[in-house]
Amino acid sequence: MLGVDLSCVATCSRGLEAVLLRELQALGIAGRARTGAVAFTGNWHQVACANLWLRTAARVLIFLAGGPCAGRDDLYSVAFAFPWEDLVWNGSTVAVQVAGRNAAFANTHFAALVVKDAVVDRLRTQKGFRPSVDVHNPDLRVVLHLEAAACGLYLDTSGEPLSHRGYRQKEAEAPLSECLAAGLLLLAGYNGGQPLLDPMCGSGTIVVEAALIATGTPPGYKRRFAFERWPFVTARALAEIKAKALAERKKPKAPIVGRDLSAHALKQARKAAKAAGMETVVRWEKGDVRELPKVEAGTLIVTNPPYGVRLGKEPELVALYRNLGDAVKRQGAGSTLWLLLGNSRLARHVGLKPAKKFQLHNGPLRCQFCSYPVVEGSFGRKNPA
Ligand SMILES: C[S@@+](CC[C@H](N)C(=O)[O-])C[C@H]1O[C@@H](n2cnc3c(N)ncnc32)[C@H](O)[C@@H]1O
Repeated sequence: MLGVDLSCVATCSRGLEAVLLRELQALGIAGRARTGAVAFTGNWHQVACANLWLRTAARVLIFLAGGPCAGRDDLYSVAFAFPWEDLVWNGSTVAVQVAGRNAAFANTHFAALVVKDAVVDRLRTQKGFRPSVDVHNPDLRVVLHLEAAACGLYLDTSGEPLSHRGYRQKEAEAPLSECLAAGLLLLAGYNGGQPLLDPMCGSGTIVVEAALIATGTPPGYKRRFAFERWPFVTARALAEIKAKALAERKKPKAPIVGRDLSAHALKQARKAAKAAGMETVVRWEKGDVRELPKVEAGTLIVTNPPYGVRLGKEPELVALYRNLGDAVKRQGAGSTLWLLLGNSRLARHVGLKPAKKFQLHNGPLRCQFCSYPVVEGSFGRKNPA
């Protein structure tokens, strides 16, 4: 049976480990950053809080078993040795998902089958039943993590990735992952106390995440988590934790504004804000970045302009990056521009010198997240890039 102290891992997109570590610390949980994850030891109450509150984590996993893994027999032995009868109940559904790599398993589907067979064999011999497999919506999802010569088995307490907050509109074009959007804001030092502007907000992910931060709203408050289905979880009721969190929500101290050229994008953004319960705390404006109105000093301008990979073509985007840089230099003295950049060739056309750079991943795309402090009088200066 799983003990009181659970060995957990919160996974995240590479580059967000430090902010995820700080998020866990804010929950009173000490963590150890790894690549693409933060490990921590916690009880069920902390696992519930982590799922509800972490803005940058993709999933919260519990370590079950692991060992050296040179091939099929090793993997089967590790999986068969675990007391699945303590977790899997008669009538439940399971799925095995594979992450990482091991040379012995060029075909990760085969590795998943080995684990599934071991689970089924163990349950049949110990309990006399066999669970059904449901790859889409299982009661229990086992994550097999393969490394060069080792394997680890984890139980996924989240279910749907934590980025699925429940407010995303299906028709949104090139949206950022909600976890990455929250990560950008936290890396930029946003805490709800500063005015926040996304001048190319698209479907509004950065703005909605900012509203959730500024109001102290748990990002996962509208969704359910896998562990809520499990009879063996003895956490204090999640409903109670959620009710307390929602009762302590606050009004944002500063404006949160999303702008975009596209009426269609703004319609998606409005719907997303409404679905997130944030429609009253954000403001939307339609307009070209060239016509940016005066920006209050101290504003964090956080945005991800088109890169030329998914939206727009590179030569046309040169003008857009130049216009964006010119507009913030002209209108935003005392603010800080933060750009998620998927194309460094375009970045130099902003015409501002980056003060900080973070390496991030937007799905499979390697990106840079750069800050550009806009000082009084920077408009009209020679392009520093
Ligand atoms: C990559 S998308 C932003 C996606 C957004 N972060 C999200 O999560 O949905 C870039 C946005 O820039 C907008 N855009 C392009 N050119 C613009 C301009 N000149 N002024 C304002 N917005 C512009 C597009 O309409 C598009 O919505």
